[in-house]
Amino acid sequence: MELFDNHKKLFGTAALMFIGLTMLVAVGPAISNQNNNAPLPGAKPLSPEAEKGKAIFVANGCVACHTQQVRNIDMDKMWGTRPSMAADYAGITRTDFWRNTATLMGTERTGPDLTDVGNRQPSLDWNLVHLYNPRIVVKESIMPAYPWLFTIKKEPGKHDVVVNVPESYMRGKEGKLVATDDALYLVAYLQSMKQTELPSGAVVPEFLYKPEPKVAAAGAEGAALADGKALYTANCQACHQADGMGLPGAFPPLKGSPVVTGDDLELYVDIIMNGYDARQEYGVMAPIGTNMGFTEHEVAAIINHERSSWGNEAAPVTPEEIKKVMEFVKLKMAP
Ligand code: HEC
Ligand code: HEC
Repeated sequence: MELFDNHKKLFGTAALMFIGLTMLVAVGPAISNQNNNAPLPGAKPLSPEAEKGKAIFVANGCVACHTQQVRNIDMDKMWGTRPSMAADYAGITRTDFWRNTATLMGTERTGPDLTDVGNRQPSLDWNLVHLYNPRIVVKESIMPAYPWLFTIKKEPGKHDVVVNVPESYMRGKEGKLVATDDALYLVAYLQSMKQTELPSGAVVPEFLYKPEPKVAAAGAEGAALADGKALYTANCQACHQADGMGLPGAFPPLKGSPVVTGDDLELYVDIIMNGYDARQEYGVMAPIGTNMGFTEHEVAAIINHERSSWGNEAAPVTPEEIKKVMEFVKLKMAP
């Protein structure tokens, strides 16, 4: 056959087939993929600070332990309101001309998934303390400390962000712990990680493999039996701590707190639902109840747990009482 004797024709045919197949099985699908996957309408691009923070996230190897993907299986439900989808990643571009896209979906989940951590843990103070040394706020944490994201200054300037940590964590150095720009960028990135809501009307994909519903032993009263201790551990303990003592200079103690043991339910519920920033010496508490969509049963359970723990002894509240206060507090917040 002539084709096999003529090296130009032979090479040309092979090259054409190679290029043709590449177009067909690689380039074409990739282009079609890109055209079909736009970011969701509500997606917000990263701020310049968060963009720098992402580079610091990459540089410090956070992806080794933290995923950014909520899989569509029931056990991932705690990391977001819906499973992640291709559109969530469609806005991600090359790092720069020389470097490809940083793939931060992760493969290992030694720490929690971070897809929605901006909603779950929005506090600047908490994040800074936690990065400086995770053990200050989460005693059992195995996350490494990142002290090089902080400096110690004798006299911090007006614009310095001072981080209050217990004396014993200062490594015997005098002065105040100050967050570097890198730490602030990194936290800006963490705070920006929020799952984008689907456009209204879109069908929210389901989490698969739901466990069999437990037989409702508690019957109709089931909802009233929200577990205050578990809710406290999941939503409040990171800052106020398991022993209710808080962290001096950052998070106030709930043990012996006049709010917790007092009669001003309106203030108490307002703090839980709408957050709190009343005092200079403490950081800011985020509107956790609103973010988490707490019901009156859950708020009552948390309050009753706090009122009866760590030596606190105050009368319990009922969900009915809390419901009234919640409606009032919501009205107060409405513009
Ligand atoms: C060796 C594994 C490991 C590495 C590396 C690591 N983490 Fe973690 N991270 C954890 C673990 C475990 C937890 C859960 C305990 C805790 O809160 O400290 C956690 C918790 C967190 C949380 C709180 C999440 C939540 O849902 O409350 C944030 C935020 C976080 N890490 C950010 C980071 C950042 C940013 C980096 C890189 C600078 C990083 N982590 C590096 C293991 C790791
Ligand atoms: C991210 C950290 C953080 C988390 C999580 C958090 N708080 Fe707070 N909380 C604070 C800070 C900071 C203050 C003080 C704010 C101020 O006074 O400026 C505070 C204040 C309070 C107070 C007032 C205490 C007093 O004596 O003044 C109560 C009550 C309270 N929180 C309850 C809760 C409950 C209940 C939860 C869980 C649903 C919770 N907090 C979760 C940071 C947090």
